[in-house]
Amino acid sequence: MRVSDSKIVAKLAELNVELQHSASLSDLTSLGIGGTTDLLRIKSHESLPDLLNLLDTNHVPHRFLGGGSNLLVGDGDLPWVVLQLVRSEPDVVLDGNLAHVDAAADLGRMITFCAKNDLGGMDGLIGVPGTVGGALRMNAGAYGMQIGTYAREVKLYRAATRRIEVLRDHQISFEYRHTSFAPDDMMLAVILELPSKPYKEILQGIRICNEKRRSSQPLGQKSAGCIFKNPPGVSAGRMIDELGLKGLSVGDAQVSDRHANFFVNAGHASAKDMQSLIADVRERVQKSFGVSLENEVVVWNA
Ligand code: EPU
Repeated sequence: MRVSDSKIVAKLAELNVELQHSASLSDLTSLGIGGTTDLLRIKSHESLPDLLNLLDTNHVPHRFLGGGSNLLVGDGDLPWVVLQLVRSEPDVVLDGNLAHVDAAADLGRMITFCAKNDLGGMDGLIGVPGTVGGALRMNAGAYGMQIGTYAREVKLYRAATRRIEVLRDHQISFEYRHTSFAPDDMMLAVILELPSKPYKEILQGIRICNEKRRSSQPLGQKSAGCIFKNPPGVSAGRMIDELGLKGLSVGDAQVSDRHANFFVNAGHASAKDMQSLIADVRERVQKSFGVSLENEVVVWNA
């Protein structure tokens, strides 16, 4: 979708929003899949309510993009524009055990920065790609840790009220790879309360998790992490592996031969290829195990 109306373009500049025409979503997602659309980079989140009013009044559909690391975007000319926050500097400010973090901050860099200041708790999440906002929205987790455990306060643009609001932890529910945020809420900032721990100890934990990750996940390849959520008490990856589906492919979309719940883009996979592979694997698991796998990856259809 192209924003070409000169009045809208002028208003975007007034709202401190940078308009980038024909951005390729394959460059903005870890899967390296996705068509093109206009990208609106928001430099000051205070302008969000006005920006969304502008888009709604002019019937411009939109989607919010975080780090693009858990996302499968459709092919071709996309029928909505993409909004993305520009990271502020500094994006993490510490105050005792509290870390005030910008939603656009890189998750791994934030964890490292806190660790260097003797604040731990999230060691297992260090290798999880993406932004803090993206991790928060889906309550990202790994090795028994999840970000929601540490969130005390979240600043967000709430689609329901069309305002910027601050929610306290008791107003948010964080579950396994799921939160009570609405799909069109936009995370802006979070206050995390992290336990004190000496850097050396945190580093040891980080090394152990990194080692486990390196030995079991296809880190060098384009993927969106795990494609399916784990059903209660079972590993989706193990079930797919037991069916002998590692290496199964549709075009360049392929079930990783390292971890069967990672589907990789082994070249120039299209969204259509990846979607057919997901549907095929889901059907086979349903047939053999009677288990209906739910997507962890978020799909934005064209
Ligand atoms: N397994 C296999 N074959 C495979 C993959 C796994 O047999 O191809 C077996 C493993 O050997 C192990 C069990 O299944 O006995 C569990 O595997 P793993 O420890 O890799 O955990 P997982 O359940 O597959 C989850 C998260 C990962 C997270 C790891 C480590 C989900 C959907 N996945 O994977 O998160 O990194 O635990 O905590 O919850 C993600 O969410 O994108 C993600 C990568």
